[in-house]
Amino acid sequence: MFSDRTRWNLEENRLSHKLAQLRASGQTILDLTRSNATECGLSYEEQEIQRALAQPASLLYQPDPRGIKSARDAVSAYYQQQQVHLPADDLILTSGTSEAYSFIFRLLCNPGDEVLIPAPSYPLFDFLADLCDVKLVRYPLLYDHGWQIDFAALAATSSRTKALIVVHPNNPTGQYASTAEQSKLADFCVQRGIALVADEVFLDFSLNNSPAQSFVSLNQALTFTLSGLSKICGLPQMKLAWIAVSGPSDDQAQALARLEVITDAYLSVGTPVQLATPELLATRGEFQAQVIARVQENLRELDAQLSRQSACNRLLCEGGWAGVLRVPAVRSDEDLAITLLSKEGVYVHPGHFYNFAQPGHLIVSLIVREDEFAEGIRRALSHFK
Ligand SMILES: Cc1ncc(COP(=O)(O)O)c(C=O)c1O
Repeated sequence: MFSDRTRWNLEENRLSHKLAQLRASGQTILDLTRSNATECGLSYEEQEIQRALAQPASLLYQPDPRGIKSARDAVSAYYQQQQVHLPADDLILTSGTSEAYSFIFRLLCNPGDEVLIPAPSYPLFDFLADLCDVKLVRYPLLYDHGWQIDFAALAATSSRTKALIVVHPNNPTGQYASTAEQSKLADFCVQRGIALVADEVFLDFSLNNSPAQSFVSLNQALTFTLSGLSKICGLPQMKLAWIAVSGPSDDQAQALARLEVITDAYLSVGTPVQLATPELLATRGEFQAQVIARVQENLRELDAQLSRQSACNRLLCEGGWAGVLRVPAVRSDEDLAITLLSKEGVYVHPGHFYNFAQPGHLIVSLIVREDEFAEGIRRALSHFK
């Protein structure tokens, strides 16, 4: 009765099973994977947000398949503040970055076509690709005092390759594509006639005080830049994201016109959130300052604890909300995460969830409350003594 593309292994993985078991038995778990900003004790401009969502104009339904103009203008102004010119007409609003990926896959790929994605990276891609009958081909990122794209490995594309995804900064490795890498990626896509997709949901969370350059300003290849309120304002529940389309004008116009047909078939973004977008985006400064301060504090604590032992260290990161711990690779990361959960009551993600090629990596969220983070790391590191 069901399609092949939904023939997933629906069984809970061993780690989630253990977590559910321990929670059911009443054990308190220190959750170092928590990355839902609305559950991390951060403060929001509540009244402004609520007021913005309660506009009388929300009672009128006048859909625009690209998204209501005032919302697109606000997103365009967000880029203008980073000295990037992006006309509102080059934007398409979606209900999330995940939906944006699906629309782009549908726009570019026939069943069985391939999309290049970085490894390690964010695990949701597998499901999004399955749902659109797209095959993912991973290109490695290499770590040597910082992360870099392995351009030699990238060379191996096939005639079915339709797009290359770059996550800027990547989750969970936290590296931005350097300016040199950005233009190399654009050249690569131009040479092969494929599109460039840049996921910039964490763009604003740079840890070294210098704002990173958005892919929106690249024009050589057909480029889709994705972002949204989910991370920029810490408001994933609002369900508003966007695709900025840039590139050679013919390709750009075709892409926008075709995307407009796709979005018109769904009209998935709610009117209240679109009308609220200018005010919601205006709250991002306060939110981002809190997140960056917390990430920096948690990294300081992590480094202080790591300096008092020699079994583990952490990988360098430039931005985003995740930290990567390097631990002794004496068994699988999943077994290790299960042991940390049962013996120390601390929940971390194993590196293989994010397609790390080698064992010996654990992933922690850096936006967990400072006291919980410090205690969780203490418990995790005590295991390696
Ligand atoms: C790299 C990356 N892209 C996209 C998303 C999802 O964003 P959205 O909530 O807009 O679907 C996440 C969520 O963690 C992410 O890490």
